Amino acid sequence: MYRLVIYGRAGQREVKSIKFKKPEIASNQTINLMFLLHQHNIPIASSCYAEGICHKCVVSLNKKEILSCQVNLQDLFKEKNFVKIEVGYL
Ligand code: FES
Repeated sequence: MYRLVIYGRAGQREVKSIKFKKPEIASNQTINLMFLLHQHNIPIASSCYAEGICHKCVVSLNKKEILSCQVNLQDLFKEKNFVKIEVGYL
């Protein structure tokens, strides 16, 4: 089982926890993190249609800022089965 936790810095709380089974991650290679968050009603800003240009979709992962539109599920869970991302305005 894999787990993604979305933590809101503004509210200082866990906003959502999403669980995945390994086959879901393997079968969703083309879905990026931003799209996944939208599917789960987490608002992530964007104005470049995930082309990696606008930088509005930034989230924090291990204290580094990443573009959520440029990361897919396999990248996210490459080394760990628990991932926590932080969104500043949530
Ligand atoms: S949506 Fe524009 S850089 Fe990610």
